[in-house]
Amino acid sequence: MPEQELQRRYHLTTFGCQMNEHDSERMRGVLEENGWSPTADPEEADLLLFNTCSVRESAESRLLGRLGEARRLKNERPGRLIAIAGCFAQSRREDIFRDLPFVDIAFGPGDIGELAALAETAAGSAPASSFTFASAPSGGLPARRIDPYRAWVQVITGCTNFCSYCVVPGVRGPECSRPASDIVAEVERLVAEGVVEVTLLGQNVNSYGLDLGGGWSFSSLLGMLDGIKGLRRIRFTTSHPKDLGDDLVDAMRDLPSVCEHLHLPVQSGSNRILSRMNRGYTREHYLELVSGIYSCVPGVALTTDIIIGFPGEKEEDFYRTMTLAAECRYDGAFTFLYSPRPGTEAADFPGRIPETTKKRRMQELVGLIQAMALAKNEGLVGSVEEVLIEGPSRHGEGLLRGRTRGNKIVNFSPFSSGLGAGDFADVNIESATSTTLKGVQTPPRAGD
Ligand code: SAH
Ligand code: SF4
Ligand code: F3S
Repeated sequence: MPEQELQRRYHLTTFGCQMNEHDSERMRGVLEENGWSPTADPEEADLLLFNTCSVRESAESRLLGRLGEARRLKNERPGRLIAIAGCFAQSRREDIFRDLPFVDIAFGPGDIGELAALAETAAGSAPASSFTFASAPSGGLPARRIDPYRAWVQVITGCTNFCSYCVVPGVRGPECSRPASDIVAEVERLVAEGVVEVTLLGQNVNSYGLDLGGGWSFSSLLGMLDGIKGLRRIRFTTSHPKDLGDDLVDAMRDLPSVCEHLHLPVQSGSNRILSRMNRGYTREHYLELVSGIYSCVPGVALTTDIIIGFPGEKEEDFYRTMTLAAECRYDGAFTFLYSPRPGTEAADFPGRIPETTKKRRMQELVGLIQAMALAKNEGLVGSVEEVLIEGPSRHGEGLLRGRTRGNKIVNFSPFSSGLGAGDFADVNIESATSTTLKGVQTPPRAGD
């Protein structure tokens, strides 16, 4: 029906990391300001938009699977547009329309503001694309947030670290910090809209401000944000160990709204592998950082990323990763099988590890991480944790679900009715698994 076509609906699928989730919020913002409305059903959509990731081959394969489906929908209704955004699009910018001829629109992470105009052009017939390599932060664009009470905030874009396995510097461009005054203004606006928790985003937040000059640092930014009244929690990701200074650890200890959770990707526990990864720190330096954090920030939760099966990883290298992990007593870890990425230095390294070996190592590591996470969580049994409620729990009628300051999921029974997403509750932790806590809300204190 012509009326339906006039409504112009889009369907958005997001792959990849939190930067991409946040970029997707801004794609929604840009589209909806230009008369598009969202639909959860791809069959109803006039625009099928994919915000893509190319960090591992598996992300690309999943995308290609979904594109097959999009192509079928387009064949059913040829006026339908297919758009590819994000890191995969940026990495294939030269050949994307040749390799994927059914694609109408392609643009990179720095071109989100162009989306509505690209859709107009492509609807007019020719494919349209926009790729800016060195992308300035796009935090000023309108965003359609998923939650009213928590928000992502971009503080630094790009990456200039060139870890030898990683596509990100090649697709997101060099590091570029957002001026602190812009960030503070955005957070103040978010808090005025009802946000109580922000997560500051950057590939390496610890190098925030270095490109701005004037002595800016990530800890000074945290100090400014901590002063915003009504902002209860500040989280941030990701910290690079080579740039983690005492000032950040002190900020975590001293600033009330900065949560006691540090995600500090180690990637490997072997100095030989760390050096081939071009990570810029040693096992010993990392362990020193961790012991400093544990002694300075009581109750801090520590999580990490680890790559298994990097080229040339011998059994003894893997064993070093296992002993480092055990020493770090992680609360959790994202573990990845090494995936060779075209255009990265490591893709040409000799010593590929057989899949069976990678998978066996992965199983051993995951077993260790789960045991450590369980022990850490069991250590919280009997304590009272502040929980920010996300909504009803799937684990039982009347239960609520939320997160502690250490970012642990808690399912709990509320003391009184009427609590919902965005509210805080103090919860007495009664039991734990390796991934979740369970408890009962303590009666609210007078004045709460
Ligand atoms: N900037 C962040 C991480 C971004 S990518 C940091 O440096 O910590 C997220 C994680 O994906 C990385 O920490 C790494 O563990 C993993 N990763 C990146 N490239 C990979 C590859 N080629 N194969 C497997 N895992 C990879
Ligand atoms: Fe990739 Fe390394 Fe940059 Fe992280 S710091 S995005 S792993 S190059
Ligand atoms: Fe994120 Fe994937 Fe790009 S991890 S930065 S969406 S390559």
